[in-house]
Amino acid sequence: MLRVKDIHHVVYRHADLEALEAFLGDFGMVVASRDDDRVFFRGACSAPYIYIAERAETPSFGSIAFEVESRDDLLKAAALEGASEVQALDRPGGGERVILHDPAGRQVDIVHGISTVAPLPMRPALTYNTADSKQRFGDTQRPEPGPAQILRLGHIALGVQDLHANLQWYTTVLGMLPSDMVVEEQRDNPHAVFLRIDRGDDWTDHHTVALFGAPRDHVHHSSFEVQDVDSQYLGNQWLTQRAWTPFWGVGRHLLGSQVFDYWYDTSGNIVEHFTDGDLYNRESRTGYVEGGSNTLYQWGPDMAIEDFLGHE
Ligand SMILES: [Fe+2]
Repeated sequence: MLRVKDIHHVVYRHADLEALEAFLGDFGMVVASRDDDRVFFRGACSAPYIYIAERAETPSFGSIAFEVESRDDLLKAAALEGASEVQALDRPGGGERVILHDPAGRQVDIVHGISTVAPLPMRPALTYNTADSKQRFGDTQRPEPGPAQILRLGHIALGVQDLHANLQWYTTVLGMLPSDMVVEEQRDNPHAVFLRIDRGDDWTDHHTVALFGAPRDHVHHSSFEVQDVDSQYLGNQWLTQRAWTPFWGVGRHLLGSQVFDYWYDTSGNIVEHFTDGDLYNRESRTGYVEGGSNTLYQWGPDMAIEDFLGHE
């Protein structure tokens, strides 16, 4: 089993990189560097890039990358059936990777040794005065309008034809742990699973990979963390004013509890802003939840689960 540290980046292929760059700028990412056929986008945290856009005639999803603890984990990955050899990465920050494929045939890069960069200046989280807990005295609340500054890549949600095989792969090869399973009557036959990274006693996001049973293998969305709820709403207002295409939000999910806001990029992929998600560790217990749309959100604009999952 590989010791995964975190999700590191995603790769998407787009026909029009300039249009995508305009969208992702308004979505809250920053261009870190570029060459003729690739643009590297970063968040405000210390990863040199979290999203690589590659130029291609036909838009498609490229790959997901997970960072592992040590070079030893890379060697272990390279020994798996169907794995590539360890390859040097020709990208900012250097490092190495091993290419794997999950049961859906999706490329999963295992990376190590990519150097970090200095974080960008971030707006600190706002101090909220709740009804029963006043924390801000003699000071005002003035978050600046503009894009929701993206801090980091948080998770990816995958539609999979064979949920069981993918669940098996992500839990055994990457050592992930189920935080919540959406089931009907039988617990061993879930139709959605939310998986977190095993960080031992350390706290980690409720899910880093979500698997949804689907008629076709596809990437449902990738999701990026922003500072707080005001950032979500200001980001939503900014994207609305710039006439980008909304998918769903702002609302609060049930499983993972994140405040969410989903948008279409310029190639029709869904990307998400999230904040205020639950943190779990190795001891956290798997939840089993029965139901449909009521498992999707606690509040927010109306959305039927079929319409949420129906996007491909
Ligand atoms: Fe999500």
